[in-house]
Amino acid sequence: MPGRQPLRRPLAQGRSSPRPGPLPSARRGSRHGTGPACGPCRAGSRAARHPFAAPAGIARPPPQLSLLARRDWSSNNDSERPAMQIGIIGAGNIGGNLTRRLTALGHKVSVANSRGPHTLTALAEETGATAVPVAEAARDAEIVVVAIPVKAVPDLPAGLLDAAADGVAVIDTGNYYPRERDGRIAEIEDEGITESRWTQRRLGHPVIKAFNGTYAQDLLDRGRPAGDPERIAVPVAGDDEEAKRKVRALIDELGFDTVDAGGLDDSWRQQPGTPVYGLRAGADGVTQALAEASPERAPEFRG
Ligand SMILES: NC(=O)c1ccc[n+]([C@@H]2O[C@H](COP(=O)([O-])OP(=O)(O)OC[C@H]3O[C@@H](n4cnc5c(N)ncnc54)[C@H](OP(=O)(O)O)[C@@H]3O)[C@@H](O)[C@H]2O)c1
Repeated sequence: MPGRQPLRRPLAQGRSSPRPGPLPSARRGSRHGTGPACGPCRAGSRAARHPFAAPAGIARPPPQLSLLARRDWSSNNDSERPAMQIGIIGAGNIGGNLTRRLTALGHKVSVANSRGPHTLTALAEETGATAVPVAEAARDAEIVVVAIPVKAVPDLPAGLLDAAADGVAVIDTGNYYPRERDGRIAEIEDEGITESRWTQRRLGHPVIKAFNGTYAQDLLDRGRPAGDPERIAVPVAGDDEEAKRKVRALIDELGFDTVDAGGLDDSWRQQPGTPVYGLRAGADGVTQALAEASPERAPEFRG
């Protein structure tokens, strides 16, 4: 079954920064929230209130960025780092906060939602991003982020990436929630392909799976300078090594370490219900959690 093989080699533990020092909580890993409504928490049910899934009733981020969110946390402290054109498709919890952080870092961001740019004037004014129709979001982009519900991926316009820059890296933040939001997707359930491989097929372009297990609010609040013992790590999976390198460099800039979680068929290790999903931990903890994942989809994430 593709994408469901147990890992037979050590995961590459990539840090885009010096190794963080000891941090008991980060080493052990901490999960978001403590109650039964916290999806990533193995102790509780993945209820509809899970913040990665629920399309409604989610507290929106504060109107102003925290001080943390304005800083460039990159291990490569290069003041000459060129601004990139970045397209963000989806302006909700995760797309909105990535828009905030990436504009604050000086990147040129085009952001789109399903209802059109006229509904994104507040976000555009707040951040300086350009609100565009979704068909324009990838124009000239070196990196495109797809941050929409999985069920909406097939609705994206054909040729979405045609006008992107050569070698564009596409980040897929998506999580498949068959019961609460997305409905049953046969290719994922029956063929056993990973969620991101399904999205890649729909887009017709390689994707890099990243941020799917990161709480959107953490993008604003949890970035830390390279080497900070509290810096948390993000697993990154995908087949296009050059695109993965670009994505990992961007995540470093945002203030997070990265762990190379393998190819796209390995990305079941970071899907909902896995130990790493929603884990706040440094690179060691993330590497360990990826290795401990079971290839069986957790029952609450089956359609
Ligand atoms: N929330 C989190 O903390 C988090 C963390 C990691 C990963 N994720 C995953 O990332 C994805 C997005 O999550 P979210 O919480 O940011 O969702 P959300 O707050 O519900 O926002 C979804 C966004 O997608 C847009 N959208 C929907 N269909 C679209 C289409 N066909 N074309 C263009 N834009 C479209 C929506 O636009 P309209 O409002 O105009 O419809 C909205 O801006 C999901 O797969 C989720 O599981 C979420």
